[in-house]
Amino acid sequence: MNALIFSLYQQPLATLVAHQLNVPLGDYVFRCFPDNETYLKIESDVQDKTIIIIDSLDNPNHKILPLLFLSKLLKELGAKSLIFVAPYLCYLRQDKRFNSGEGISSLYFAELLSGYFDGLITIDPHLHRYHNLNEIYSIPTEVIHSSSVVSRWIIDHVANPILVGPDSESEQWVNALSKQIGIPCVILEKHRRGDEVVEVKVPNIANYQNAKPILIDDIISTGQTMLETIKQLKALLMPPPICIGTHAIFANDAYQQLLKANTDKIITCNTITHPSNLIDVSPLITKSLRGWFKG
Ligand code: R5P
Repeated sequence: MNALIFSLYQQPLATLVAHQLNVPLGDYVFRCFPDNETYLKIESDVQDKTIIIIDSLDNPNHKILPLLFLSKLLKELGAKSLIFVAPYLCYLRQDKRFNSGEGISSLYFAELLSGYFDGLITIDPHLHRYHNLNEIYSIPTEVIHSSSVVSRWIIDHVANPILVGPDSESEQWVNALSKQIGIPCVILEKHRRGDEVVEVKVPNIANYQNAKPILIDDIISTGQTMLETIKQLKALLMPPPICIGTHAIFANDAYQQLLKANTDKIITCNTITHPSNLIDVSPLITKSLRGWFKG
């Protein structure tokens, strides 16, 4: 493979993928000037090479400008094409104009990225009103699902589980996991009253009183969805749940709040580097990239 892998912010995951693909990591210097402007220097030969950039887009406003500069620089230095692997892809929630005067940031962001990269790979993007990324991205995209590695973890670690999806959006992946593993699931009813206020209703789960609840969500951001669900399960005298999130955003002190709540374990995939990462998605990224190289 005439390729190199670069990562400005996610070296641990990029190193795993580089090793599995047998593709070297590119050398570069990346730092900030005293006034916080970005300095970038590529030290590897990138001429005619396919460049894979692996960087999740949590904290996107901070990360995006250096990544766009990296793209510009690699192209100027003769890179053949740039595949951007963003295990967590941001700016997908504003997928319609909810109130007049608001912007559709998912669309603006997709237009921006499409202008700088030749392909995009991501994991479990938060697609709600869009059915697939090509509705907003004009470059080839691939969506990887983490369900195979999440189900493996559940099978290996939990006896007598019941999957709990906190809202109707989670139904798609919770149902798929439930079928894949052959275990029961229940979907709750969630109403979001504000950025940090959610209400959750649990349907009748009396038949599963002794099962181990596993809360499954794509993103843990403020943690309020998980915290409210944990409260409701506690009121129903269910055992302390295991919380599994694909993307460990953990805004502010969400992780600490969840640790203090009635949880057994909090587990995430390494799409975003975090101490809770126990499920490795690197083999999924490697498999997907092999497909891109086969063409
Ligand atoms: C929402 O629809 C998502 O699937 C998650 O439930 C949500 O992003 C979790 O956010 P928070 O942790 O802020 O409740």
